[in-house]
Amino acid sequence: MFAAASTAFCHAHAIQLTFALCPSKTLLSLSFMNARIFLIVMTVVGMSAVRTAGAQTQAPDPFAVNQRLGRGVNIIGWDPLWQDRARGRFQDEHFKLIREAGFNHVRINLHPLRDGKPDANGKLREEFFKTLDWAVDQSLANGLMVILDYHDDLAISPDPPGKKKDFLASWAAIAEHCKSRPPEVLFEILNEPAPKFTSELWDQFCREALQIIRRSNPDRTVIVGPAMWNGIGGLDRLVLPDDDQNLIVTVHYYTPMEFTHQGAPWTSHRQTTGVAWNATPQETAAIARDFDKAQAWATQHRRPLYLGEFGAYDKADMPSRVRYISCVAREAEKRKWSWAHWQFDGDFIVYDIRNKRWVETIRDALIPLSSR
Ligand code: BGC
Repeated sequence: MFAAASTAFCHAHAIQLTFALCPSKTLLSLSFMNARIFLIVMTVVGMSAVRTAGAQTQAPDPFAVNQRLGRGVNIIGWDPLWQDRARGRFQDEHFKLIREAGFNHVRINLHPLRDGKPDANGKLREEFFKTLDWAVDQSLANGLMVILDYHDDLAISPDPPGKKKDFLASWAAIAEHCKSRPPEVLFEILNEPAPKFTSELWDQFCREALQIIRRSNPDRTVIVGPAMWNGIGGLDRLVLPDDDQNLIVTVHYYTPMEFTHQGAPWTSHRQTTGVAWNATPQETAAIARDFDKAQAWATQHRRPLYLGEFGAYDKADMPSRVRYISCVAREAEKRKWSWAHWQFDGDFIVYDIRNKRWVETIRDALIPLSSR
């Protein structure tokens, strides 16, 4: 479009030149006619170029946004800073450290029901927004893109209809509060909607939340994933509005669970120990197969993909974790997906806050030295 506009612009200039230099009246009026036609063409082309340029700056191309998201890490979901900033583990310096390590974004795990405590009118606590603003300001100041991930799935998934009002009201409040943020801030509708969200119910929630978000944030890139804990298996039942292309689709990947969640008390693998992951041809092919399946869906539906969570719980042996994490990250990158490691600190850690040091093996598996 820009090329077309500038070609028309050059033509018009050429004609203006002919018009100025031509001595013959006939030729002059012909040139004048031509000039008028070209000027009209130029104006129309130019105007639509401006419209296109305007549209480009306002509603970003989600594929381009996804490329910029690149590599990321999940942060502050269970940090006491939400209850009391003075007790926070995560500090200003950690945003800088994350950027310096080579990450491009943070996925901020928000609990608007737990920490925002919506009142009867859906108003969220002032303190919640103060902490949220601090996290967004710090991320942006350190060159990190931000995903505001609505991570209160545990509060909502057991009773979706009962929590719907608070869920939608809190989205309305967050969206309104963040509407002036730059396009580097993205919203994610809900982390890992679990079984009580049938695909139909999830579809309804998504559409309603998206409509609410779009009222105040018509051009914000929004992330949405399938029901069944954002598993790749749920993609086939994910239906997205055709008239909203400014979306990125997220999936989470922890397969095989007996390896990634061995010893994790909140799962059925709490008693499992000693499961290794050796990057055998069968093991790596299984990941490639799952990712190919997700990519086939994404290609068919023309949506970019974001691997919003993956990792291996700290109880697995370190060499296996390193092999697994680097395999998953590279397989995602091969397909041009963005990704975020689960998580910065707490468990599945890549950074040890108490001892102020990276878990270097995990960090280097995520961000190879060669790419820093
Ligand atoms: C959950 C965490 C859990 C992680 C890995 C996340 O989505 O919110 O509680 O540790 O997945 O299972």
